[in-house]
Amino acid sequence: MNEFIIAVLPGDGIGPEVTAEAVRVLAAVADRYGYHFGFPEYAIGAAAVAEAGEALPADTRQGVTHADAILLGAVGSPLLASATGNQRPEAGLLALRKLLGAYANLRPVSVHPALCNVSPLRADRLEGVDLLIVRELTGGLYYGEPRGRDESAAVNTLRDSVAEIERVARVAFRAAQERRGSVTSVDKANVLEVSQLWRDTVTRVAGEYPDIRLEHLYVDYAAMRLISDPASFDVLLTENLFGDILSDEAAVLAGSLGLLPSASLGEGPGLFEPVHGSAPDIAGRGVANPIGAIASAAMLLRHGLGLVEAAEGVDRAIGAVLAAGARTPDIARPGERTLGTGEIGAEIARLVLWGGAVEPAL
Ligand code: IPM
Ligand code: MN
Repeated sequence: MNEFIIAVLPGDGIGPEVTAEAVRVLAAVADRYGYHFGFPEYAIGAAAVAEAGEALPADTRQGVTHADAILLGAVGSPLLASATGNQRPEAGLLALRKLLGAYANLRPVSVHPALCNVSPLRADRLEGVDLLIVRELTGGLYYGEPRGRDESAAVNTLRDSVAEIERVARVAFRAAQERRGSVTSVDKANVLEVSQLWRDTVTRVAGEYPDIRLEHLYVDYAAMRLISDPASFDVLLTENLFGDILSDEAAVLAGSLGLLPSASLGEGPGLFEPVHGSAPDIAGRGVANPIGAIASAAMLLRHGLGLVEAAEGVDRAIGAVLAAGARTPDIARPGERTLGTGEIGAEIARLVLWGGAVEPAL
């Protein structure tokens, strides 16, 4: 099968700019490897509220379920910061994840050798950093009921079921089998019953994977060790909110949030999106880093469509342009020349199209 439908949901802020570059790279993949990709576009987030009156319109819900994989930019707008219900851009994303049953969020973090001086952490701390955050994505505080607020108080509910913990734990253990064989499960079991259930369940599931080492850490200590000894992590498994926070923290290791990709996998087609948000402060200026979105496209090829060789081609091209010195402002050091979103995307696409046959020309 050579034909695939990739639903594109550009969303808000820098979302449209970075997804355009990811689509450009995917089009180069199609040319090089002889695939046919369709790229139907659908609205989400504040853009969808403006267009259709809600953050995840019926048209989008319908479109994504017929796709082979979904590429998303970002959602969020300061204009809708106090909106509620299905008028909130973020609610559109949460509803999409739920609709797709995308319960396992994979967020790989490594440090490109050319960027080891970009992070505020000392370069020697970053040596050997190569970790995968597996974040539970459709449970926890994000979805627990009851929730709400009145004038004097507000409530959210932290709820995770055994079945939800088991299935995401299995994703983490299987990932560890393909990597360095260890899983660090992060919780707050010294305080929360949900975390005690989490810890017991993960320990029990570990019995199915005798080849994998398992350790448990409390989230406060894990947050510290992520900075003090980041190379000690292989697969980091955690619940929804802890994973949200720790993945932004881990982005500091890579040098910029703008570099990090993610894959959200589960029951339906996979959802692929950069870890960064809509960055309204730099939107529309052509300076956003497209690499998080392009690396998400590589994850889409690998995990969403099973096109491993093409995924490797994209990852190699990203590495080559970084090695050649391509920098958006977020990863440039003082005085370094910077390139625009489109210049970097075009160069990665060109390298993908020509494989190893051309050198970066920047
Ligand atoms: C992320 C984002 C989202 C989240 C927001 C936009 C709802 O921060 O994907 O990490 O919290 O999951
Ligand atoms: Mn986040």
